[in-house]
Amino acid sequence: MSHDKISETFDAWAEAGRAEGMEEGHGDVVRQVLAQIEVKPGMQCLDLGCGNGWATRILGQSAPGAGAVGVDVSAKMIARAEELSDWTSRARYEVGRFEELDFPDAKFDRAFSMEAIYYAIDLEQALSELFRVLKQAGTADILVDRFKESVHTAGWDSLLGVAMHFLAEAEWHSAFENAGFSSVSTRRVIDSRGPGDEASFEPSAHAEDWKTRVELHEAGTLWIHGEKDG
Ligand SMILES: C[S@@+](CC[C@H](N)C(=O)[O-])C[C@H]1O[C@@H](n2cnc3c(N)ncnc32)[C@H](O)[C@@H]1O
Repeated sequence: MSHDKISETFDAWAEAGRAEGMEEGHGDVVRQVLAQIEVKPGMQCLDLGCGNGWATRILGQSAPGAGAVGVDVSAKMIARAEELSDWTSRARYEVGRFEELDFPDAKFDRAFSMEAIYYAIDLEQALSELFRVLKQAGTADILVDRFKESVHTAGWDSLLGVAMHFLAEAEWHSAFENAGFSSVSTRRVIDSRGPGDEASFEPSAHAEDWKTRVELHEAGTLWIHGEKDG
């Protein structure tokens, strides 16, 4: 797997309008988590794998004088993010890779990521970069929908045609500790809108029947939190 293959895949998603679909799909869970991340005035936030930058803009606007940078390997996602931003967003975007973040050490107070970090080609290096760019007492809050306890997500890599790391909750915990994070915790976040309703359910490659849809919903999103000792 190469970064070119990943950017080609997500460039195509951006062109097909799927970035806005992700905002709709991920929005409830992300808003639940962002409401619990304390962004204080003037803090600098990082959104890894920002897609069209919708969560980056929420972070940038979450306190007076705060700012946010979204990073994504897909130039077309970044172009879309720029189209959707204006001066009130207090957000900017860069084409870049998780494994070699183009920022100095200790630049950010808060790091966030939704459904992106497991695409890292070198996950250990990506977590080490995430740790490096955080300030002392900075926090990382990383969300993934694909993890071993959510059993119906096992085949997502073949469906997408892109390699993805597939870790259990305890393995994510260890990966964060190994990268240097302290106070690491994991928990599940459940979409408050529910699984939908059975009458209008339509089978898809991700959920071939209603039972699978309900179990995917119940498994929820895995939220991994870590801190850089202050
Ligand atoms: C499933 S999308 C999620 C986008 C956004 N966080 C959201 O929720 O709408 C994953 C994003 O991560 C980006 N990505 C994947 N691997 C990456 C890497 N190694 N470095 C930077 N970005 C990457 C992709 O280009 C894609 O836009």
